[in-house]
Amino acid sequence: MTPPTCRVCGTPLRTFLDLGDHPPSSAFPTPAEALAGAGDTVRYRLAAGACERCALVQLTGDVPHEHRPYAGYPYHSSGSSVMREHFRRTARRLLRTELHGKGDAFAVEIGCTDGVVLRTVAEAGVRHLAFEPSGYSGYHGARVHRAFLTADSAREAVAAEGRARVVYAANTVCDIADLPGLFAGLDELLAADGVFVFEDPYFGEIVRRTAFDQFYDEHRYYFTATSVRALAERFGFRLVGVERLPVHGGQLRYTLARAGRRTPAPAVAGILAEEEAGGLTDPAALAAFAGRVDRVRSDLVALLEGLRAADRTVAGYAATAKSCTVTTYCGLGPSLVPYICDSTPAKHGRLTPGARIPVRPPAAFAAPYPDYALLFAWNHADEIMAKERAFRDGGGRWILYVPEVHVV
Ligand code: TMP
Ligand code: ZN
Repeated sequence: MTPPTCRVCGTPLRTFLDLGDHPPSSAFPTPAEALAGAGDTVRYRLAAGACERCALVQLTGDVPHEHRPYAGYPYHSSGSSVMREHFRRTARRLLRTELHGKGDAFAVEIGCTDGVVLRTVAEAGVRHLAFEPSGYSGYHGARVHRAFLTADSAREAVAAEGRARVVYAANTVCDIADLPGLFAGLDELLAADGVFVFEDPYFGEIVRRTAFDQFYDEHRYYFTATSVRALAERFGFRLVGVERLPVHGGQLRYTLARAGRRTPAPAVAGILAEEEAGGLTDPAALAAFAGRVDRVRSDLVALLEGLRAADRTVAGYAATAKSCTVTTYCGLGPSLVPYICDSTPAKHGRLTPGARIPVRPPAAFAAPYPDYALLFAWNHADEIMAKERAFRDGGGRWILYVPEVHVV
């Protein structure tokens, strides 16, 4: 078998994590489909490698497109008030900085967040467009170009709207298979001094928190400032800004401008130096990370088996994509986690991918509470624990597995 190669530069990847065979993370079968042996039967190898040349961390395998059940399906926003506020603030900042005083500015978003950014931009009277192949946008008045951003679709948009001051993407670039195609689109779409601003889970935080559940099919890349700098430069851009974001378990927001147009902010050199000093993608650091991941699995299984032996009741909280990685890698099924409560109506009455744990509505998480709740949406922990205060007040305990297995 030929070794996997970097999707961007073609150099062989150094695989550092192999979590085994996994189902697509959003394949929630109905009980009838599961009985018929259908619904979540595809498997792909969930393994990650780092490029020896451009340092880009990426999945080595892939779910074939025809088996990505979510392709063309609307994304169901998490309904997180923290995330809504995050996107509102983001839009206001873009309006104050990149879009301010630029005449008839034009802003583009790629991928579908829950629409808060575009809505806020539109409410300020700024022209906007979303590039979203599924046609979906959480903002109903949004103008949507039903296509990936590529050179061709960008030229069409520019012919109709002119060039964009800002292109923004949240939790989207990490899932774009064709990054050269994306940059060809940006080159067509962006004004000479326009910027591309995007945010995704930060590999440095994944390592720091041993957050192995950030690895799943919809996250192909795990960016660092170092790898984004190399990526930008390969396509005629520069990394000119970087900002740490507390959301979703630790993200970085990158600002890219065309080469020679802007001076990088001091924070860029700072984080590049930090990544270099910490040896973020050095083989020894990655091997240590893989060792810690293995430890989390054995600790979590031991804890849940101990609770079952002691007749304590357990429920899962939030049937996230991350939970698919955890249940599959750790071999958790209904005998250890009998059900998972989740706020997404489309998941109710279905089974989780692979593990086939029944998903129940949030109303099922109520008195009499289980003794323990395994929190798969740990990235929303503060918000969820505040909302579910009655659970803890009644003696319930949360199980968390990031950065290590612990009970609170
Ligand atoms: P994500 O925002 O990390 O993608 O997680 C979204 C999933 O978590 C989705 O399945 C909904 C679920 N969820 C809840 O069930 N309750 C909550 O309060 C939140 C914030 C998310
Ligand atoms: Zn590479």
